[in-house]
Amino acid sequence: MKDLDRKVAELSKRRGFFSQTAEAYGGVAGFQTFGPEGAELKRNIENSWRAKFSDELGNREIEAPTIMPEAVFEASGHLDTFDDMIVRCPECGESSRADHIVEDNTELDEAEGLSTEKIEELFQEHDLECPECGESLAGEKVEDFHLMFETTIGPDSGNRGYLRPETAQGIFVEFPRFKDYERGQLPFGITQIGKSYRNEISPRKGLVRVRELTQAELEHFIDPEEDRPPMDEVEDVELKLYSRERQSEKGDLQRLTVRESVEEGVIESEWIAYFLGIATEWYRSIGVDMERFRYRQHQNDELSHYASDCWDAEADVSALGEEEDWIEITGFAYRGCYDLKKHHEHSEEDYTVFKEYDEPVEEEVTEVSPDMAFLGPEYGDKAGEIAEALQEKAEENPEAFEQDEIAVEVEGEEYSIPSERCGFERKTVTKNGEHILPHVVEPSFGIDRMVYTILAHSYDEDEVDGEERTVMRFDEEVAPTEVAVFPLMDKEGLGEKAREVADMLRSEGLSVKYDDTGNIGKRYRRQDEVGTPYCVTIDYDTLEEEPETVTVRDRDSTEQERVRIDELAEHLS
Ligand code: GLY
Repeated sequence: MKDLDRKVAELSKRRGFFSQTAEAYGGVAGFQTFGPEGAELKRNIENSWRAKFSDELGNREIEAPTIMPEAVFEASGHLDTFDDMIVRCPECGESSRADHIVEDNTELDEAEGLSTEKIEELFQEHDLECPECGESLAGEKVEDFHLMFETTIGPDSGNRGYLRPETAQGIFVEFPRFKDYERGQLPFGITQIGKSYRNEISPRKGLVRVRELTQAELEHFIDPEEDRPPMDEVEDVELKLYSRERQSEKGDLQRLTVRESVEEGVIESEWIAYFLGIATEWYRSIGVDMERFRYRQHQNDELSHYASDCWDAEADVSALGEEEDWIEITGFAYRGCYDLKKHHEHSEEDYTVFKEYDEPVEEEVTEVSPDMAFLGPEYGDKAGEIAEALQEKAEENPEAFEQDEIAVEVEGEEYSIPSERCGFERKTVTKNGEHILPHVVEPSFGIDRMVYTILAHSYDEDEVDGEERTVMRFDEEVAPTEVAVFPLMDKEGLGEKAREVADMLRSEGLSVKYDDTGNIGKRYRRQDEVGTPYCVTIDYDTLEEEPETVTVRDRDSTEQERVRIDELAEHLS
């Protein structure tokens, strides 16, 4: 089978999975509309994710807005760092991802982490060309291009906002609320499924690089010193790992269990290994082909600004026998306390959690209680900041208070304060705990890419009764239409009976398609193309037999059996 990419796109458009948005007006790159089958498939994947990562793991789901004020992204670092490298063709005017041109045309597999200057050098060295028209791009400027969509909030255009580039910030920014909700007890997880937006330079491959995407993210908040994952639940799950070292050596994947991956030091964080184990079972349960699947660790220069380690789940979406085409479907990032620390520092709120000790501990502390009746008249509006600087000095360098004068710096100016005015003392206090910034482990799933992977991995062609057929071999967990109901023809009461059976199955919670158009063979083929596991046909025997029966046809084997109508729902479920 060749050209899987083209075949999936063509089938998706024809059979209602997805197609480019607003094609009536020439289309808009990077936006896709899910048709009836695609929307249901996507919903099924989301619901399955929710059942696993929210409900089963005991996490709670929230819903935050897709637009956030600028201050959130100033704090999160996205305003400064959320860029890709762009190069514009002087001939045709097409804009392209500069790092992708390098990756596609040189030996370098990963160019994202390189500087714009280095990429310009590589364009010269390899005389790289515009992928659109073939014009040489050597000597062209490579620049950073900001990926967030900007907007204004309300009629006052000074109030700048951005469409969120990840759902995660909607969770982090509300952490003070969630920690109270969880009564300050770590670990806990908050999930969210929702839209994110990235103004991609060159959208590609239908659902793979889009400008509006759906993410399903879990932000798991832990005390890094105390909290351990329940490893025994997944310790024997086998992982296919492509570590940083193996990539550099161009070596093979390693097959290790979750437990081995940690014991052998291949995965540093037990939490990351644990979530890879959980996710592996989930991918398998929804029909990802695990032979075309791996976990790849990010190279250091590929890591996002917030991550200290990251493993991507990747799926190969090429056809068997064609060059491999790996796409990222999930990132498992160790974000440490990066995000909570940033919001703690930039906002007025407290993002720490109070960690109570098992036993109270005695601790020596150093404190000042400066004589404000002296500092006020002497230093005016600087007195408060001088008092704060003295307290900092007392904590960092208490020996300094053995001098007669204590030097502190405030806004670049040095002040010498007589030690008798500082009120310096050492005392022993009893502490019941301390405030810590939790660490975050983040499994972040790209749902559109999951849909694409399921489409690519389910696509199959075979032969039935000497005729070629295309069949989507969806797992029943995600199949968008679960049952199709056909009357042999819409006359002599067969149509009425079939509609009655379809309604009965719908009332049992099944997703049902009723179809009475064209010959029965063509109807079977249409349902095969959208991956419907079962087709139910009402024929003349149905009306004549007592109890009434129908034929049930299995999508994969195409075998048919007769089933009583009063047992049909249970049979199909
Ligand atoms: N939250 C991770 C990401 O959006 O890439």
